[in-house]
Amino acid sequence: MTFPKNFLWGGATAANQIEGAYDVDGKGLSVTDITTAGSLTAPRMLTYKLNGKLEKTPAMPGAGLPEGAVGAIDPNSYYPNHVAIDFYHHYKEDIKLFADMGFKTFRLSIAWTRIFPKGDEAEPNQKGLDFYRRVFEECKKYGIEPLVTISHYEDPLYLSEKYNDWQDRAMIDMYVKYAKVLFKEYKGLVKYWLTFNEINSSLLMLNAFGNKVTDDKVYQHAYQKLHYQFVASARAVKLAHEIDPNYVVGNMICGVVDYPLTPDPKDILLNRHMWEEDLLYCGDAQCKGKYPTFAKRLWAEHDVHLDITEQDKQDMLDGKVDMYTFSYYMSNVVTTHEVQDKASGNFAAGAKNPYLNYSEWGWSTDPTGLQYYLEVMYDRYEIPMMVVENGLGAVDKIGEDGKIHDDYRIDYLRQHIEAMGKAIADGVDLIGYTTWGCIDLVSAGTGQMSKRYGFIYVDRDDEGKGTLARMPKDSFYWYQKVIKSNGADLA
Ligand code: BG6
Repeated sequence: MTFPKNFLWGGATAANQIEGAYDVDGKGLSVTDITTAGSLTAPRMLTYKLNGKLEKTPAMPGAGLPEGAVGAIDPNSYYPNHVAIDFYHHYKEDIKLFADMGFKTFRLSIAWTRIFPKGDEAEPNQKGLDFYRRVFEECKKYGIEPLVTISHYEDPLYLSEKYNDWQDRAMIDMYVKYAKVLFKEYKGLVKYWLTFNEINSSLLMLNAFGNKVTDDKVYQHAYQKLHYQFVASARAVKLAHEIDPNYVVGNMICGVVDYPLTPDPKDILLNRHMWEEDLLYCGDAQCKGKYPTFAKRLWAEHDVHLDITEQDKQDMLDGKVDMYTFSYYMSNVVTTHEVQDKASGNFAAGAKNPYLNYSEWGWSTDPTGLQYYLEVMYDRYEIPMMVVENGLGAVDKIGEDGKIHDDYRIDYLRQHIEAMGKAIADGVDLIGYTTWGCIDLVSAGTGQMSKRYGFIYVDRDDEGKGTLARMPKDSFYWYQKVIKSNGADLA
């Protein structure tokens, strides 16, 4: 395997899934702070008050509260993100461990509500700014380049309620104001930025579970939200370049690879259409700065009527991203035929693929899909690419020797690194790889701690019990070797 010199090996996290300290140093409530724990079978719930009554509704990334609802914390529910793994108070220890593994980069996100607690304040919260400065300085101490997601599934609750989850163009200004503060504040400390985590997740969600959707306005909602986010992202990119020409700003797409189940031409066309709606719609808007040719078909199909201005179109063109980044965990199979054997995983639901193995959470392992995705997308956009999430969520058991022998995780990662190597050999300009949940964290989908991705074990369980002590797993030493050999030694 030959990886480019200066390849950015590292790991990825999100503020709400690691930091905890949800109400410390002036932080406001985010949407995640009113999200309860779930499990493989029970969904996470959003808790809120409507007409004075405490209610719950299933939480879905990208979905907001019912109209008129006010997010509220239920004293009888458990909220795993409130403490998470308490990175807020352990960041020095954690970054030291990342440095021990040889990380070149560390992907983390900023909690918008640490900087603007409600979102609409005129001035940022100094304590929030100071926290991330300390974190970035700690990274720099070890030569680790921070890769910063500006928004990772945690809009300020206040804004989300006021503007009904991005249904008002006022959100664009709120986001741009927030991004501008970050770009100015961390100039010289941060080089790589991502505007929105998995921006395509609401479309994926609708397509995967669309048959359960009863409200016919959901597509209008999702597409309008996306449009405002595209404009916000583009304006942020433009601003970033003005503030520091060295800034590299990327999009971030949830990369679920769809395959057709059969050679039936109808399956082939459906597969193509899934790629268009789930992946290329957002990819084109952010990388090409304009909507793709098939956008009109999608809008007509879903009866979507966008609030879109000439200035928006110009902003999108002026704010194309510098790199294409994405998460990759698994592939999915689509078909127009009835199937018995079904599978569902990260924002996808389709037929089971007989050629693949599935994790305990039902996610397929498909490294070839990663190679395929890289090659297709690089050919389409021809800008540097980064895999900013990839990994295996699994239950880890502490062995009799007190250690965690996670050979299943090593195996998963090895196969995906090999796939990246092949894509690079085929000409893809891949510049980095950050595995998801490099330290155990709260699962976004289920709120569990027991769905672990890390090289570093954290002693905390699904009920919030545990010492929060950190311990390297076998994969820690394996990844250390991978980085040291720049991907040559995967044994
Ligand atoms: C991605 C998200 O979809 O998948 C992460 O960007 C998330 O926030 C990751 O944690 C893994 O999903 P889960 O549900 O296993 O946490």
